[in-house]
Amino acid sequence: MINVDIRPETESDFTAIYEVNRLAFGQASEANLVELLRSGDSFIPELSLVATFEQKIVGHILFTKIKIINEDGSEYESLALAPMAVVPDLQKQGIGGQLIVSGLAKARALGFASVIVLGHEHYYPKFGFVPAKRWNIQSPFEVPSDVFMAIELVEDGLKGVSGTVVYPKAFEMV
Ligand SMILES: CC(C)(COP(=O)(O)OP(=O)(O)OC[C@H]1O[C@@H](n2cnc3c(N)ncnc32)[C@H](O)[C@@H]1OP(=O)(O)O)[C@@H](O)C(=O)NCCC(=O)NCCS
Repeated sequence: MINVDIRPETESDFTAIYEVNRLAFGQASEANLVELLRSGDSFIPELSLVATFEQKIVGHILFTKIKIINEDGSEYESLALAPMAVVPDLQKQGIGGQLIVSGLAKARALGFASVIVLGHEHYYPKFGFVPAKRWNIQSPFEVPSDVFMAIELVEDGLKGVSGTVVYPKAFEMV
């Protein structure tokens, strides 16, 4: 277990954040996605968090605004957790977990009621995520239902919410 410091990004972190994502994913798509999201209107600077260890950025997590829209046309605001990255040589030492816990707390403090994630079905449940089908919340694209998950940040944060998630356009561009 490595204990990291977690704080919102600043402009001087942009290059390091790009590198952490590029290294973690072994390709530039997610790093480019972060840059596109940063210039879009779903971006919340306080929810682009970096993990630092020995003054270096070793991890990053991003939450952006999404909508859940149901058949009646009702719209609900939520957040998408994506992407999340830890440099390869420090993975599996708890840094990702610290980023998630800290990010969820920050999102709650900012008044958000829920978070949606598309990710590993054995990892995110450790932090309270459950399949989003529980609320009849669907992904806009075909995915196995167990990997599409949601968490309520406050009691009944998703009560009465259902529908299909609409991601920021940037997600379609990478
Ligand atoms: C996913 C990631 C951010 C997790 O960070 P981390 O610091 O390694 O996470 P933690 O140490 O808190 O937890 C690691 C645990 O989660 C599991 N895990 C996390 N994401 C996983 C995934 N996508 N597939 C399989 N297992 C995963 C690990 O196997 C490990 O399990 P264990 O503790 O039972 O061995 C990091 O591994 C990473 O950057 N991976 C490459 C990029 C990526 O896939 N990002 C997620 C999709 S957006």
